[in-house]
Amino acid sequence: MSFATLWESLLPIGRDGLSGGYRRFSWTPEDAACRAWFTRSAAERDLRVLTDNNGNLWAWWDPPGWPGPGAPGGAKAVVTGSHLDSVPDGGAFDGPLGVVSAFAAVDLLRERGCLPVRPLGIAAFSEEEGGRFGVACLGSRLLAGAIEPGRARALADAAGVTLAEAMAAAGHDPDGIGPDDDLLAAVGAYVELHVEQGRALADLGAAVAIGEQIWPHGRWRLDFTGRPDHAGTATLADRRDPMLPFAAAVLAARQAAAAHGARATIGKVTAEPGAVNAVSARVSAWLDARGPDERTLQTVVGEVLAAAREAAAGHGVELAAGPESVTPAVVFDQDLRERLASSLAEQGIPAPLLPTGAGHDAGVLAARVPTAMLFVRNPTGVSHSPAEHAESADCAAGVRALATVLEDLACR
Ligand code: GLV
Ligand code: MN
Ligand code: MN
Repeated sequence: MSFATLWESLLPIGRDGLSGGYRRFSWTPEDAACRAWFTRSAAERDLRVLTDNNGNLWAWWDPPGWPGPGAPGGAKAVVTGSHLDSVPDGGAFDGPLGVVSAFAAVDLLRERGCLPVRPLGIAAFSEEEGGRFGVACLGSRLLAGAIEPGRARALADAAGVTLAEAMAAAGHDPDGIGPDDDLLAAVGAYVELHVEQGRALADLGAAVAIGEQIWPHGRWRLDFTGRPDHAGTATLADRRDPMLPFAAAVLAARQAAAAHGARATIGKVTAEPGAVNAVSARVSAWLDARGPDERTLQTVVGEVLAAAREAAAGHGVELAAGPESVTPAVVFDQDLRERLASSLAEQGIPAPLLPTGAGHDAGVLAARVPTAMLFVRNPTGVSHSPAEHAESADCAAGVRALATVLEDLACR
Protein backbone atom coordinates (compact mmCIF):
# COMPACT_ATOMS: atom_id res chain seq x y z
CA MET A 1 0.00 0.00 0.00
CA SER A 2 1.34 3.46 -0.84
CA PHE A 3 2.14 6.06 1.81
CA ALA A 4 -0.55 8.31 0.29
CA THR A 5 -3.30 5.66 0.64
CA LEU A 6 -2.35 4.95 4.23
CA TRP A 7 -2.08 8.66 5.03
CA GLU A 8 -5.43 9.48 3.47
CA SER A 9 -7.16 6.67 5.34
CA LEU A 10 -6.26 8.38 8.65
CA LEU A 11 -6.82 11.98 7.52
CA PRO A 12 -10.60 12.34 8.05
CA ILE A 13 -10.57 11.08 11.65
CA GLY A 14 -11.12 13.88 14.15
CA ARG A 15 -10.75 16.75 11.69
CA ASP A 16 -12.84 19.79 12.56
CA GLY A 17 -14.82 20.99 9.57
CA LEU A 18 -14.48 24.67 10.46
CA SER A 19 -10.86 25.06 11.53
CA GLY A 20 -9.45 22.21 9.45
CA GLY A 21 -7.47 21.24 12.58
CA TYR A 22 -7.57 17.96 14.48
CA ARG A 23 -9.30 17.20 17.76
CA ARG A 24 -8.10 13.74 18.60
CA PHE A 25 -8.23 13.50 22.37
CA SER A 26 -7.50 10.34 24.29
CA TRP A 27 -10.31 7.91 25.14
CA THR A 28 -12.89 9.72 23.00
CA PRO A 29 -14.73 8.33 19.95
CA GLU A 30 -12.08 9.98 17.71
CA ASP A 31 -9.36 8.21 19.67
CA ALA A 32 -11.24 4.93 19.27
CA ALA A 33 -11.38 5.53 15.51
CA CYS A 34 -7.61 6.18 15.46
CA ARG A 35 -7.07 2.96 17.42
CA ALA A 36 -9.26 1.02 14.98
CA TRP A 37 -7.24 2.51 12.10
CA PHE A 38 -4.00 1.37 13.79
CA THR A 39 -5.34 -2.15 14.36
CA ARG A 40 -6.59 -2.36 10.77
CA SER A 41 -3.28 -1.11 9.35
CA ALA A 42 -1.40 -3.66 11.47
CA ALA A 43 -3.75 -6.51 10.50
CA GLU A 44 -3.32 -5.66 6.80
CA ARG A 45 0.39 -6.28 7.35
CA ASP A 46 0.00 -9.43 9.50
CA LEU A 47 1.43 -7.63 12.50
CA ARG A 48 0.50 -8.81 15.98
CA VAL A 49 -1.36 -6.01 17.81
CA LEU A 50 -1.59 -5.46 21.51
CA THR A 51 -2.66 -2.67 23.81
CA ASP A 52 -0.42 -2.35 26.85
CA ASN A 53 -1.70 -1.69 30.38
CA ASN A 54 -1.40 2.04 29.82
CA GLY A 55 -3.43 2.10 26.62
CA ASN A 56 -0.45 2.44 24.29
CA LEU A 57 -0.79 0.48 21.05
CA TRP A 58 1.89 -1.90 19.72
CA ALA A 59 2.07 -3.76 16.40
CA TRP A 60 4.76 -6.43 16.22
CA TRP A 61 6.53 -7.91 13.24
CA ASP A 62 8.04 -11.02 14.78
CA PRO A 63 11.13 -12.51 13.15
CA PRO A 64 10.66 -15.97 11.64
CA GLY A 65 11.06 -18.64 14.32
CA TRP A 66 10.96 -16.08 17.12
CA PRO A 67 10.05 -17.86 20.37
CA GLY A 68 7.55 -15.20 21.47
CA PRO A 69 7.35 -12.28 23.88
CA GLY A 70 9.35 -12.71 27.08
CA ALA A 71 11.19 -15.82 25.87
CA PRO A 72 14.52 -16.19 27.67
CA GLY A 73 17.48 -15.00 25.65
CA GLY A 74 15.20 -13.49 23.01
CA ALA A 75 16.75 -10.63 21.02
CA LYS A 76 15.73 -7.15 22.11
CA ALA A 77 13.22 -5.40 19.91
CA VAL A 78 13.60 -2.33 17.73
CA VAL A 79 10.59 -0.05 18.04
CA THR A 80 9.47 2.91 16.01
CA GLY A 81 6.27 4.99 16.10
CA SER A 82 4.87 8.14 17.66
CA HIS A 83 1.36 9.21 18.70
CA LEU A 84 -2.07 9.71 17.11
CA ASP A 85 -3.62 12.23 19.52
CA SER A 86 -3.52 15.97 18.84
CA VAL A 87 -3.53 19.35 20.53
CA PRO A 88 -6.84 21.22 20.10
CA ASP A 89 -6.97 22.11 16.39
CA GLY A 90 -3.55 20.58 15.81
CA GLY A 91 -2.03 19.71 12.46
CA ALA A 92 -2.24 16.43 10.59
CA PHE A 93 1.46 15.57 10.90
CA ASP A 94 2.47 15.96 14.56
CA GLY A 95 2.42 12.33 15.70
CA PRO A 96 0.59 10.60 12.83
CA LEU A 97 3.51 11.15 10.44
CA GLY A 98 5.65 8.90 12.65
CA VAL A 99 3.02 6.15 12.87
CA VAL A 100 2.08 6.20 9.19
CA SER A 101 5.77 6.29 8.20
CA ALA A 102 6.38 3.29 10.46
CA PHE A 103 3.78 1.17 8.62
CA ALA A 104 5.08 2.47 5.27
CA ALA A 105 8.65 1.58 6.30
CA VAL A 106 7.52 -1.99 7.05
CA ASP A 107 6.04 -2.12 3.52
CA LEU A 108 9.30 -0.82 2.08
CA LEU A 109 11.41 -3.33 4.04
CA ARG A 110 9.22 -6.14 2.70
CA GLU A 111 9.55 -4.78 -0.86
CA ARG A 112 13.30 -4.86 -0.33
CA GLY A 113 13.03 -8.47 0.86
CA CYS A 114 14.29 -7.64 4.36
CA LEU A 115 13.34 -9.89 7.26
CA PRO A 116 13.84 -8.80 10.86
CA VAL A 117 16.21 -10.85 12.97
CA ARG A 118 14.80 -9.23 16.09
CA PRO A 119 11.21 -8.12 16.79
CA LEU A 120 10.27 -4.88 15.05
CA GLY A 121 7.52 -2.94 16.80
CA ILE A 122 5.36 0.02 15.89
CA ALA A 123 4.03 1.98 18.86
CA ALA A 124 1.36 4.65 19.15
CA PHE A 125 1.57 6.26 22.57
CA SER A 126 -1.57 7.51 24.28
CA GLU A 127 -2.18 11.19 25.26
CA GLU A 128 1.22 12.45 24.09
CA GLU A 129 -0.03 16.02 23.85
CA GLY A 130 -1.75 16.09 27.22
CA GLY A 131 -4.61 17.64 25.23
CA ARG A 132 -7.31 16.13 27.43
CA PHE A 133 -5.73 15.40 30.83
CA GLY A 134 -3.00 18.05 30.94
CA VAL A 135 0.12 15.90 31.41
CA ALA A 136 2.28 15.61 28.30
CA CYS A 137 3.42 12.14 27.17
CA LEU A 138 1.08 10.49 29.66
CA GLY A 139 1.15 7.03 28.04
CA SER A 140 4.94 6.82 27.79
CA ARG A 141 5.35 8.43 31.23
CA LEU A 142 3.16 5.72 32.78
CA LEU A 143 5.00 2.99 30.89
CA ALA A 144 8.38 4.31 32.02
CA GLY A 145 7.31 4.92 35.63
CA ALA A 146 7.69 8.68 35.26
CA ILE A 147 4.29 9.46 36.81
CA GLU A 148 2.62 7.86 39.79
CA PRO A 149 -0.40 5.79 38.57
CA GLY A 150 -2.72 7.10 41.33
CA ARG A 151 -1.98 10.68 40.32
CA ALA A 152 -2.59 9.79 36.66
CA ARG A 153 -5.93 8.08 37.40
CA ALA A 154 -7.14 11.23 39.18
CA LEU A 155 -6.21 13.66 36.38
CA ALA A 156 -9.40 15.33 35.15
CA ASP A 157 -10.39 16.85 31.82
CA ALA A 158 -12.17 20.19 31.41
CA ALA A 159 -15.54 18.54 32.15
CA GLY A 160 -14.23 16.94 35.36
CA VAL A 161 -14.04 13.41 33.89
CA THR A 162 -11.03 11.61 35.34
CA LEU A 163 -8.56 9.56 33.34
CA ALA A 164 -9.77 6.49 35.26
CA GLU A 165 -13.39 7.19 34.27
CA ALA A 166 -12.53 7.95 30.64
CA MET A 167 -10.43 4.79 30.30
CA ALA A 168 -13.09 2.63 31.91
CA ALA A 169 -15.79 4.12 29.67
CA ALA A 170 -13.63 3.21 26.65
CA GLY A 171 -13.30 -0.37 27.90
CA HIS A 172 -9.76 -0.17 29.29
CA ASP A 173 -9.07 -1.14 32.92
CA PRO A 174 -7.55 1.90 34.70
CA ASP A 175 -6.44 -0.22 37.68
CA GLY A 176 -3.71 -1.77 35.55
CA ILE A 177 -1.89 1.44 34.60
CA GLY A 178 1.70 1.96 35.71
CA PRO A 179 5.28 1.03 34.86
CA ASP A 180 5.85 -2.01 32.66
CA ASP A 181 9.48 -2.92 33.21
CA ASP A 182 9.21 -6.22 31.31
CA LEU A 183 7.91 -4.50 28.18
CA LEU A 184 10.62 -1.83 28.34
CA ALA A 185 13.33 -4.39 29.06
CA ALA A 186 12.39 -6.13 25.81
CA VAL A 187 13.04 -2.95 23.79
CA GLY A 188 16.62 -2.42 22.66
CA ALA A 189 16.08 0.81 20.71
CA TYR A 190 13.28 3.30 20.02
CA VAL A 191 13.47 5.50 16.92
CA GLU A 192 10.69 8.09 16.54
CA LEU A 193 10.13 9.87 13.24
CA HIS A 194 8.38 13.23 13.63
CA VAL A 195 7.55 16.26 11.55
CA GLU A 196 10.01 19.05 12.28
CA GLN A 197 8.43 21.73 14.47
CA GLY A 198 10.63 24.59 13.31
CA ARG A 199 12.16 25.49 9.97
CA ALA A 200 15.83 24.64 10.35
CA LEU A 201 15.69 21.98 7.63
CA ALA A 202 14.22 24.40 5.10
CA ASP A 203 17.27 26.61 5.61
CA LEU A 204 19.67 23.65 5.52
CA GLY A 205 18.18 22.26 2.29
CA ALA A 206 17.76 18.73 3.71
CA ALA A 207 14.58 16.63 3.86
CA VAL A 208 15.43 14.77 7.07
CA ALA A 209 17.46 15.35 10.21
CA ILE A 210 18.62 13.30 13.16
CA GLY A 211 17.46 14.54 16.58
CA GLU A 212 20.27 15.64 18.84
CA GLN A 213 18.60 16.78 22.05
CA ILE A 214 15.35 18.10 23.50
CA TRP A 215 15.25 21.26 25.57
CA PRO A 216 14.07 20.81 29.15
CA HIS A 217 10.46 21.94 29.33
CA GLY A 218 7.27 21.78 31.34
CA ARG A 219 3.83 23.04 32.19
CA TRP A 220 2.80 25.01 35.25
CA ARG A 221 -0.76 25.75 36.33
CA LEU A 222 -1.58 29.11 37.91
CA ASP A 223 -4.91 29.61 39.70
CA PHE A 224 -5.68 33.24 40.55
CA THR A 225 -8.61 33.53 42.97
CA GLY A 226 -10.20 36.95 43.50
CA ARG A 227 -13.69 38.17 44.39
CA PRO A 228 -16.51 38.19 41.86
CA ASP A 229 -18.21 41.56 41.64
CA HIS A 230 -20.28 43.88 39.42
CA ALA A 231 -18.44 45.35 36.44
CA GLY A 232 -20.42 48.58 36.54
CA THR A 233 -20.64 49.34 40.23
CA ALA A 234 -17.61 47.89 42.02
CA THR A 235 -15.09 50.70 42.40
CA LEU A 236 -11.63 50.01 41.00
CA ALA A 237 -10.15 50.43 44.47
CA ASP A 238 -12.49 47.80 45.95
CA ARG A 239 -11.86 45.12 43.35
CA ARG A 240 -9.91 41.91 43.77
CA ASP A 241 -9.72 41.09 40.08
CA PRO A 242 -7.76 37.90 39.22
CA MET A 243 -7.56 38.95 35.57
CA LEU A 244 -4.99 41.65 36.40
CA PRO A 245 -2.24 39.45 37.89
CA PHE A 246 -3.00 36.94 35.15
CA ALA A 247 -2.25 39.67 32.58
CA ALA A 248 0.98 40.48 34.43
CA ALA A 249 1.98 36.80 34.20
CA VAL A 250 1.39 36.78 30.42
CA LEU A 251 3.64 39.80 29.96
CA ALA A 252 6.26 38.44 32.37
CA ALA A 253 6.39 35.18 30.38
CA ARG A 254 7.21 37.05 27.21
CA GLN A 255 9.77 39.24 28.95
CA ALA A 256 11.54 36.38 30.74
CA ALA A 257 11.69 34.26 27.59
CA ALA A 258 13.15 37.15 25.59
CA ALA A 259 15.67 38.00 28.31
CA HIS A 260 17.00 34.43 28.60
CA GLY A 261 16.85 33.05 25.05
CA ALA A 262 14.03 30.69 26.07
CA ARG A 263 10.34 30.15 25.27
CA ALA A 264 7.43 30.85 27.59
CA THR A 265 3.81 30.78 26.51
CA ILE A 266 0.43 31.09 28.14
CA GLY A 267 -1.83 29.53 25.52
CA LYS A 268 -4.66 28.30 27.69
CA VAL A 269 -6.76 30.31 30.13
CA THR A 270 -10.17 29.95 31.71
CA ALA A 271 -12.13 32.61 33.56
CA GLU A 272 -14.93 31.74 35.98
CA PRO A 273 -17.77 32.32 35.92
CA GLY A 274 -17.04 34.01 32.61
CA ALA A 275 -19.59 36.85 32.65
CA VAL A 276 -18.93 39.88 30.44
CA ASN A 277 -20.31 42.20 33.08
CA ALA A 278 -18.58 40.79 36.15
CA VAL A 279 -15.15 40.73 37.72
CA SER A 280 -14.06 37.10 37.55
CA ALA A 281 -13.97 34.89 40.62
CA ARG A 282 -11.09 32.83 39.33
CA VAL A 283 -8.69 32.79 36.41
CA SER A 284 -6.69 29.64 35.67
CA ALA A 285 -3.77 29.80 33.26
CA TRP A 286 -1.24 27.31 32.01
CA LEU A 287 2.37 28.34 31.47
CA ASP A 288 4.43 26.31 28.99
CA ALA A 289 8.13 27.05 29.42
CA ARG A 290 11.20 25.67 27.67
CA GLY A 291 14.86 26.58 27.76
CA PRO A 292 18.22 25.52 26.34
CA ASP A 293 19.28 24.19 29.76
CA GLU A 294 17.74 23.40 33.16
CA ARG A 295 19.08 26.54 34.83
CA THR A 296 17.63 28.83 32.21
CA LEU A 297 14.29 27.04 32.42
CA GLN A 298 14.21 27.43 36.21
CA THR A 299 15.16 31.10 35.92
CA VAL A 300 12.39 31.80 33.41
CA VAL A 301 9.73 29.98 35.42
CA GLY A 302 10.98 31.61 38.63
CA GLU A 303 10.69 35.08 37.11
CA VAL A 304 7.19 34.47 35.75
CA LEU A 305 5.92 33.06 39.04
CA ALA A 306 7.53 35.88 41.03
CA ALA A 307 5.88 38.50 38.79
CA ALA A 308 2.53 36.68 39.09
CA ARG A 309 2.84 36.52 42.90
CA GLU A 310 3.78 40.17 43.20
CA ALA A 311 0.89 41.27 40.99
CA ALA A 312 -1.53 38.95 42.81
CA ALA A 313 -0.52 40.41 46.19
CA GLY A 314 -0.91 43.93 44.80
CA HIS A 315 -4.50 43.18 43.75
CA GLY A 316 -5.62 41.22 46.81
CA VAL A 317 -5.74 38.02 44.78
CA GLU A 318 -4.65 34.56 45.92
CA LEU A 319 -2.35 32.58 43.69
CA ALA A 320 -1.80 28.81 43.76
CA ALA A 321 0.86 27.69 41.28
CA GLY A 322 2.62 24.41 40.61
CA PRO A 323 4.04 22.12 37.91
CA GLU A 324 1.79 19.72 35.98
CA SER A 325 4.48 17.95 34.00
CA VAL A 326 8.17 18.64 33.65
CA THR A 327 10.61 16.87 31.34
CA PRO A 328 14.35 17.26 31.92
CA ALA A 329 16.84 17.94 29.15
CA VAL A 330 17.34 14.92 26.91
CA VAL A 331 20.42 14.18 24.84
CA PHE A 332 19.62 11.25 22.57
CA ASP A 333 21.78 8.13 22.84
CA GLN A 334 25.08 8.92 21.14
CA ASP A 335 25.81 5.38 19.86
CA LEU A 336 22.34 5.07 18.37
CA ARG A 337 22.57 8.54 16.86
CA GLU A 338 25.89 7.70 15.26
CA ARG A 339 24.51 4.43 13.97
CA LEU A 340 21.60 6.29 12.35
CA ALA A 341 24.03 8.81 10.87
CA SER A 342 26.27 6.14 9.36
CA SER A 343 23.42 4.03 7.93
CA LEU A 344 21.88 7.14 6.33
CA ALA A 345 25.28 8.32 5.04
CA GLU A 346 25.87 4.87 3.51
CA GLN A 347 22.68 5.33 1.50
CA GLY A 348 23.64 8.88 0.53
CA ILE A 349 20.84 10.42 2.63
CA PRO A 350 21.98 13.79 4.04
CA ALA A 351 20.76 14.17 7.64
CA PRO A 352 22.07 17.05 9.75
CA LEU A 353 21.79 16.95 13.55
CA LEU A 354 19.02 19.10 15.04
CA PRO A 355 18.08 20.03 18.61
CA THR A 356 14.41 20.75 19.32
CA GLY A 357 12.26 22.64 21.77
CA ALA A 358 9.35 20.22 21.24
CA GLY A 359 8.58 17.36 23.60
CA HIS A 360 8.23 13.74 22.47
CA ASP A 361 7.61 10.26 23.88
CA ALA A 362 11.17 9.57 22.73
CA GLY A 363 12.30 12.13 25.31
CA VAL A 364 10.49 10.29 28.10
CA LEU A 365 11.60 6.83 26.99
CA ALA A 366 15.21 8.05 26.70
CA ALA A 367 15.52 7.62 30.48
CA ARG A 368 14.97 3.85 30.07
CA VAL A 369 15.84 2.83 26.50
CA PRO A 370 18.41 3.96 23.89
CA THR A 371 16.39 6.41 21.87
CA ALA A 372 16.80 8.43 18.69
CA MET A 373 14.67 10.65 16.45
CA LEU A 374 14.34 11.54 12.79
CA PHE A 375 12.74 14.84 11.75
CA VAL A 376 11.05 15.48 8.41
CA ARG A 377 11.26 18.99 6.91
CA ASN A 378 8.37 21.35 7.60
CA PRO A 379 8.65 24.17 5.04
CA THR A 380 7.10 26.87 7.24
CA GLY A 381 8.02 25.41 10.62
CA VAL A 382 4.45 26.01 11.81
CA SER A 383 3.16 23.28 14.13
CA HIS A 384 0.35 22.74 16.66
CA SER A 385 -1.77 24.47 14.03
CA PRO A 386 -3.93 23.42 11.08
CA ALA A 387 -1.24 25.03 8.86
CA GLU A 388 1.36 22.40 9.84
CA HIS A 389 2.71 20.79 6.68
CA ALA A 390 5.29 18.51 5.10
CA GLU A 391 5.61 17.99 1.34
CA SER A 392 4.81 14.51 -0.04
CA ALA A 393 8.34 14.14 -1.40
CA ASP A 394 9.76 14.86 2.06
CA CYS A 395 7.37 12.36 3.68
CA ALA A 396 8.62 9.78 1.18
CA ALA A 397 12.21 10.71 2.03
CA GLY A 398 11.33 10.25 5.70
CA VAL A 399 9.97 6.75 5.03
CA ARG A 400 13.13 5.83 3.11
CA ALA A 401 15.31 7.16 5.91
CA LEU A 402 13.29 5.29 8.55
CA ALA A 403 13.36 2.05 6.54
CA THR A 404 17.12 2.41 6.10
CA VAL A 405 17.61 2.83 9.82
CA LEU A 406 15.23 -0.02 10.71
CA GLU A 407 16.88 -2.32 8.20
CA ASP A 408 20.22 -1.66 9.86
CA LEU A 409 18.90 -2.02 13.42
CA ALA A 410 16.41 -4.88 13.04
CA CYS A 411 17.37 -6.89 9.98
CA ARG A 412 21.13 -7.39 10.42
C1 GLV B 1 4.54 18.44 22.15
O1 GLV B 1 4.35 18.54 20.95
C2 GLV B 1 5.06 19.55 22.86
O2 GLV B 1 6.23 19.89 22.64
O3 GLV B 1 4.31 20.17 23.58
MN1 MN C 1 2.81 18.14 19.52
MN1 MN D 1 4.31 15.02 18.52
